[in-house]
Amino acid sequence: MFRLLQFCFIAELFAVTTASRSFGVQNNQLNGEITKAASCLPCAWDEASCECQLAPQEMVLQEDLPTPSEKPWMKTSDTPQARAAKLLEQMSLEEKLSMLHGYAGNYTGNVPANSRLGIPALKMNDGPQGFRDDVRPGTTTAWPSALTMAASWDVELLKEWGTAIAKEFYLKGSNVYLGPGLCVARLPVNGRNFEYMSGEDPYLGYALVKPMVEAVQSNGIIANAKHWIANNQEYGRQINNAIVDERTRFEIHYLPFIGAIEAGVGSVMCSYNKVNGAWSCENNSTLNGDLKNYLGFKDGWVVSDWKATHSTSMNKGLDQEMPANVYMNTEAIKKDLKSGDITQEMVDDSVRRILTPMFSAGLFDYTNNNTLENNVTSPEHSALARKFAGMSTVLLKNSPRAPSPAALRAGLDAHDEDAAILPLTWLDPKQAKIAVIGVQADDPIAHGAGSGHVHPAYVISPLSAILRQMGLEKPSSSDCEGVCVFYADGYDEMQTAEVAKKSDVALVFVGTSSTEAADRSNLTFSSLEAQKNLDLKQPRRYMDLERMIGIAGAKQPNTVVIGTNPGAVLTSWRETVKGILLNFMPGQEMGNAVVDILWGSVNPAARLPVTLPNIEDEVGFTHYEYNKYLSHHDEGLLVGYRWYDYYNVEPAFPFGHGLSYTKFEYTNLQVDASSRRITFNLQNTGKTAGSEVVQVYVELPRVSSDMKEPPKQLKKFSRVALSTGETATVSFQMQSLDFSTWNTMEHKWQEVTGTVGILVGASSRDIRLQGAITI
Ligand code: BGC
Repeated sequence: MFRLLQFCFIAELFAVTTASRSFGVQNNQLNGEITKAASCLPCAWDEASCECQLAPQEMVLQEDLPTPSEKPWMKTSDTPQARAAKLLEQMSLEEKLSMLHGYAGNYTGNVPANSRLGIPALKMNDGPQGFRDDVRPGTTTAWPSALTMAASWDVELLKEWGTAIAKEFYLKGSNVYLGPGLCVARLPVNGRNFEYMSGEDPYLGYALVKPMVEAVQSNGIIANAKHWIANNQEYGRQINNAIVDERTRFEIHYLPFIGAIEAGVGSVMCSYNKVNGAWSCENNSTLNGDLKNYLGFKDGWVVSDWKATHSTSMNKGLDQEMPANVYMNTEAIKKDLKSGDITQEMVDDSVRRILTPMFSAGLFDYTNNNTLENNVTSPEHSALARKFAGMSTVLLKNSPRAPSPAALRAGLDAHDEDAAILPLTWLDPKQAKIAVIGVQADDPIAHGAGSGHVHPAYVISPLSAILRQMGLEKPSSSDCEGVCVFYADGYDEMQTAEVAKKSDVALVFVGTSSTEAADRSNLTFSSLEAQKNLDLKQPRRYMDLERMIGIAGAKQPNTVVIGTNPGAVLTSWRETVKGILLNFMPGQEMGNAVVDILWGSVNPAARLPVTLPNIEDEVGFTHYEYNKYLSHHDEGLLVGYRWYDYYNVEPAFPFGHGLSYTKFEYTNLQVDASSRRITFNLQNTGKTAGSEVVQVYVELPRVSSDMKEPPKQLKKFSRVALSTGETATVSFQMQSLDFSTWNTMEHKWQEVTGTVGILVGASSRDIRLQGAITI
């Protein structure tokens, strides 16, 4: 698979040069001929052929229609719906049909402009973690990934992330952001979990997607919620048939998309896989039935994933084929109109669905002359990327440090309850000896791969950031005195042991990655994916990273592991070290963000968006539930921590877990049954300012004897910042949806009846306050 990916990278870079050259020629022609490109830009990730057609700049029409002297749809005081209706009235059939497919070209997906009516071109671009520009690497910011951002559990941060991403899209001249990714992490090994902001919890995705989509769209860019639906594995991604029952679809997989729809998302991308036997992009039940009818997705369009179309399926709910016109082309639709398979109303509805978000996002009302040539990253965005990565780093473990030469010199009591290993402020500033271990410290994996990959201008390595923090320019030689940073890449075990032993602390860096088009080989840090740095595209020599941790931990009692991970990871070595940080896919500012946390200028508050299992495939997916062709979602509602709770299995680290350098006390829970308001007090009882992610879980009474139901479910959370000693009254207004399950007989949400347990805590397994409400 890696060979295939490597080929794709090269093929793509080659394609870029070829494609942009022929595009230039074609622009001057505009004669209705659509040039067949030598290769496609960009290619889908596991397609053997990247063949595609380049976009004409303008819609190519057979009719020669006069330009209207008045454009009533340009009255900005009208609603987007009214404006779309007025424009639709003026469009010829040809003009309408030309909007229902697109082309590959300069942007990832392109729909040409219509100059007669002043309809702007659609310029869609990957990817979900920032603007992907394979031709001009380093001209956009490589942000932390969506799963990483989800670890912040911070709606305000998601808003900032969305705003910053949208600004770069605008400055690159694009107007459709092909994100956010929202699929729920059903399988810990799914290669695209890093791209999805739901983690393993539908409510986490539901709550985080709203500010994100609102921010993107209020900055003039249409968002695209993807991939609809049950696109939970990359193994066999273009042939897999996911069998998912109705209740599981609504309660687990649809909920994040409901959040996007509530935020007014302009488009949804249907996925490559089949759902219950029908291709996702021609699935009448999930598109017309569930998405457009039950979920009320009325004013946005369904675009196919790249070449995920198998038929002219407008009557099944598809509105636009991308990036081709194989099935949704003018001739095919006209033929279906003639035969009656497609009606004029369906065509109008699809076009209206595309035009309405174009009006809502302001595409008709602003002129954007920016081009792909722009370098749109900036020092401000680098600073933001650093902030996002720090606020998304999870402190998993922070045990008291052992007496060390430095601690003894400084006269500190290593067994004081505050004498945790982190932050590293206990190191003697004049004498500190730090061992930095692992090639990941010097040549870090900071991103996942695939269409969601952003080429960074740089990646700050942890080693360089630590050296800067300690005032050094390069790693110290073995005879160093005073402040020393010893570096061992980990390949030489003797050297690893030696630097660990002679230091006050060992900082061990491990990282693994993942990619679109393949699931992970396993969940360890010694996986195949850990052997390749996808940013630098240089293979690493194989190293057993777990063994490296063991060697460091055996020689140095004060060892901290800093892991970079695309999703859940195994931590079988966790008892052998004092501290553990996980920073997911942190992006280009990785090293600076790690230093911020290690030395405490940022107090960690992030929480796990996924459970960390004890062993590989702990849930025990059978061949019937996870294989290339057919995946029965027989776990149903028991995704992630819901499975651990139901079977009473203690995970390695639970969903929602994360520590801080300070402590918080929860008191005085009030549950007001009539207003459905929950209130409690939260006090920072530690010695430093910090933030706590408070979490509210509900225990719903059983509603079905047929399905295994989750014992508890996340329904509210908030990241609350408090200074030392400060107390806040935290209050949540519960909604009807929080107490509802999907009724599969009546096909609607229905509130449960009876007593609902209310659990307030710091993680799914650290419940501090309990109450109940009768519904
Ligand atoms: C991915 C989409 C992406 C598209 C365009 C597909 O392979 O699944 O997420 O937006 O390519 O690059």
